[in-house]
Parts: sequence; structure tokens; C-alpha cells
Amino acid sequence: MKILIMHGPNLNLLGERERSIYGEATLDDINDRLSKLAKELGVEIEFFQSNHEGALIDKLHQARDFDAIVFNPAAFTHYSIALRDAVAAIKTPVIEVHLSNIHAREEFRANSVIAPVARGQISGFGMQSYLLGLRAAIEVGKEIRRTKE
Ligand code: DQA
Repeated sequence: MKILIMHGPNLNLLGERERSIYGEATLDDINDRLSKLAKELGVEIEFFQSNHEGALIDKLHQARDFDAIVFNPAAFTHYSIALRDAVAAIKTPVIEVHLSNIHAREEFRANSVIAPVARGQISGFGMQSYLLGLRAAIEVGKEIRRTKE
């Protein structure tokens, strides 16, 4: 089983960016924890971060051979119809994750244009959102493999 982890804009600055909201962990710290969990659970994992909408769209289009994607679209969550359409266009299921609880912050963050086309959303658990997202992605991947048998 292969899972793709995608990080959107500004997440490369984790650890120095708005630490009271996003915590002290850097993106490498998060990816390391994800790698450890993936190893424990016996799945392959790949990481992709970009600050560019088009690069994220291209990566989604190329993600055919992954069983599922864990995606933090960051600020694009709230307005990128192009990313939403890319998620809707591909067969690979997408689990949307957020470090902060987007429903408990500014009003504009409560709306996700990705959520209606995602398999589900995990929001508000800090680094654990990604780890829960990985577990959800594996379960969704298994479910899809079973229905193909
Ligand atoms: C975020 C929440 C978004 O609103 C914000 O633009 C981010 C990070 C999160 O992980 O909590 O960049 O996706």
C-alpha cells in the first residue's frame, strides 16, 4: 500500500510560523513521525510540499498509483476551486487534514471548498491530525482494495 502526503503553502515554515497556532514541530518533524508510523503499519509513504497551486494540481494528477492521499491544502482549502476540481477529477481518495481547528478560527477558515470532494476531514489535532489522517488513508485504501477483489 502506498500513501502520498501532500502539504500546501507556507507549511514549509512550520516551527517558525505562528507557533501559538501551529505548534513547534517543523515539517521535517511531522514527516519523520509519519515515516515511523508508516513503517510500523507496513505501508510505503511519499511526501510532497509546494507553495504553488499548479504544482499541487500536477501532483494530484500524477497520484494514480497511490492508494490514498493525506492532504493539507493550507490556505488553498478556503478558495481554490482548481484544487477542488483536481481532487474531484482523480480516483485516488483524499483525506483532508489541518493542524488547527479551522472551524474555531476566523470565519473565512470555516469553509473548505475541498471538504465536499474529500473522503473526510480531520482538523484541530496538531501533528496528530496527520497521523490520524495516515491511519484513515490506510483504512480507506484497504476498503477500496477489498471492493476490487
Ligand atoms: C491550515 C489551516 C489553514 O487555514 C491555514 O491557511 C494554513 C494551515 C492548518 O493546517 O491548520 O496554512 O491548513
